[in-house]
Amino acid sequence: MNVPRSTVVVGLQWGDEGKGKISYIFSKKADAVARFQGGGNAGHTVVVDGRRLKFNILPAGSVAGARPVIGAGCVIDVGKLLDEMNMLRSLVPESRPLISRCAHIVLELHKELDGRVEAVRQAPVGTTRMGIGPAYSDKCLRLGLRMSDIIAEGRLSASFNTLLRFHQTEVGDPVTLQHVGSRLAEYVGDVPEYLMELLRGGGRVVFEGAQGTLLDLDHGTYPYVTSSNTVAGAASTGTGIPPNMLETVVGVMKAYTTRVGSGPFPTELSAPLSDRIRSAGAEYGTTTGRPRRVGWLDLPLLRYACMINGVSWIAVTKLDILSNIDTVKVCIRYDLDGREVKSLGLAMERLADVRPVYQEFRGWMASESDWLRAVRMGWDEIPSNAREYLEYIEGELGVRVGLVSVGEEVGLEIPRKD
Ligand code: IMP
Repeated sequence: MNVPRSTVVVGLQWGDEGKGKISYIFSKKADAVARFQGGGNAGHTVVVDGRRLKFNILPAGSVAGARPVIGAGCVIDVGKLLDEMNMLRSLVPESRPLISRCAHIVLELHKELDGRVEAVRQAPVGTTRMGIGPAYSDKCLRLGLRMSDIIAEGRLSASFNTLLRFHQTEVGDPVTLQHVGSRLAEYVGDVPEYLMELLRGGGRVVFEGAQGTLLDLDHGTYPYVTSSNTVAGAASTGTGIPPNMLETVVGVMKAYTTRVGSGPFPTELSAPLSDRIRSAGAEYGTTTGRPRRVGWLDLPLLRYACMINGVSWIAVTKLDILSNIDTVKVCIRYDLDGREVKSLGLAMERLADVRPVYQEFRGWMASESDWLRAVRMGWDEIPSNAREYLEYIEGELGVRVGLVSVGEEVGLEIPRKD
């Protein structure tokens, strides 16, 4: 597969689209792979040679050998990061992460606060309780601690005490933090300089998005969103690479829709079909283990996501999970008070009130061995009803489907020839 100089891998739904595997595929031919937003709330999984590897902070693409980079737009739980670095070193001994000196730190007090904020809400967001929102809010208040603070001798105490005073808490210990900082110091540096030099020298970079478009703080289903910008544009602000250096945006979408946490979900299914898809697709949160809500594919949502991200082409994941269902449905538009709505953005505030209008497709009866044959033989061996489903989607979205993933393991995918 042709790998451009810079590729942004971004989720087109509510996260959990399978970005980890897609990022891995690109990272295999890249020099660096960068996270640009979010933190330990993300759960990116790659399955290589039968081993299931889960990352929260480091990009999943780093298992492929590309240098892991954590940009300024991320918030880091430093203890977790050290654990992940150890895991990565056991797989890729020469791996040497680069962590932005501007990335902010998630502290224990942020995790505690995450729970307290949820408890006072009338309608909880259903956060991962990883302290993400509170860490970003301290960043916006200009009270947050950055990587540069915890590695600098003597600078930490004052900032830490201000933070504790503001939060009126004693949770946290600057000495421990300084100790962790000293272990990370050699990995902290300037991300824009490094990435620009790499790109100017002809190197390749993958930008690995976390969460998904509809969880974007500004463009998602607020307030049921995460606390960072998850869209492709954030690859620029979150790493310091100018937008005109971002060449290709690969939008990752699951063949159906899932969502964890609260918030409107127009195409949500009920049992027993939701249970069947959840179980076939192992739809449980990577970070929290929570069962994911499951629904049909939603084209108004995807039209909106393709527009916001400027998607170059789409990777469809988990197409095999929909096998052996008699009738597969796709929401083609919403009905809102008798009005036709074709893009989710036009119904954002009324999403709980829309009625999805469906197009039905004949299902595809396919066993695991049928999918393995398609992986071996190529696109034309995808069951014809499933191909019809894909072609309909790309026709409606006006964006080409360039790859289909039909299993967790790296290698179980069907690239489409140009
Ligand atoms: P937070 O990011 O922990 O503040 O959670 C805010 C919302 O985003 C909740 O609905 C979470 O379930 C959701 N969320 C955060 N990270 C992910 C992810 O990686 N995948 C799917 N949902 C996520």
